[in-house]
Amino acid sequence: MMPITLVQGDITRIAADAIVNAANSSLLGGGGVDGAIHRAAGPGLLEECRRLYALGGCRTGDAKLTGGHRLSARYIIHAVGPVWQGGTKGEADLLASCYRRCFEIAAERGVASIAFPAISCGVYRFPVDRAAAISVRETRAALAARPELEVMLVAFGAEIKGAYEAALG
Ligand code: APR
Repeated sequence: MMPITLVQGDITRIAADAIVNAANSSLLGGGGVDGAIHRAAGPGLLEECRRLYALGGCRTGDAKLTGGHRLSARYIIHAVGPVWQGGTKGEADLLASCYRRCFEIAAERGVASIAFPAISCGVYRFPVDRAAAISVRETRAALAARPELEVMLVAFGAEIKGAYEAALG
């Protein structure tokens, strides 16, 4: 089984078959990693996302695939994480569902390597330690099914990196 790689840095600079975006349900861009990915991928990404928006966008806990456009990644998988509301509104299950859906889409497309940002850990205020534990748990489950998959967890800052290191044990 491939080890999980922890990387600190900007996900738009990661070389992977697919990078995951922490998007919102419109898929029409935003700030944070969403803004960084749209800036790096160029206007063609927004054009593709507008078509997905017209088809209903993406529900929280789900993910949608687009091309990588100007990114080196072949694909971008846009996951819509939950906004943290105190933990009693199914937020943990919805975040886990984001990871599972990204791994399902990656398997369907034969993606060999995938990089994740810390979904919901910014604007959506999900507690970082809980999110990291969910991310690592779902990644290990995916690797049990697809040991050859290369997974990179990308931490933009030291806090996230520390949370991932703790979750990876
Ligand atoms: N590379 C990797 N990680 C990044 C980058 C980057 N270039 N920029 C930000 N991050 C990190 C943040 O530091 C945070 O740890 O991504 C994590 C997720 O934070 P957000 O981008 O704020 O995403 P999220 O909390 O899921 O909120 C999603 O924010 O940008 C809007 O349109 C987006 O409405 C959606 C919401």
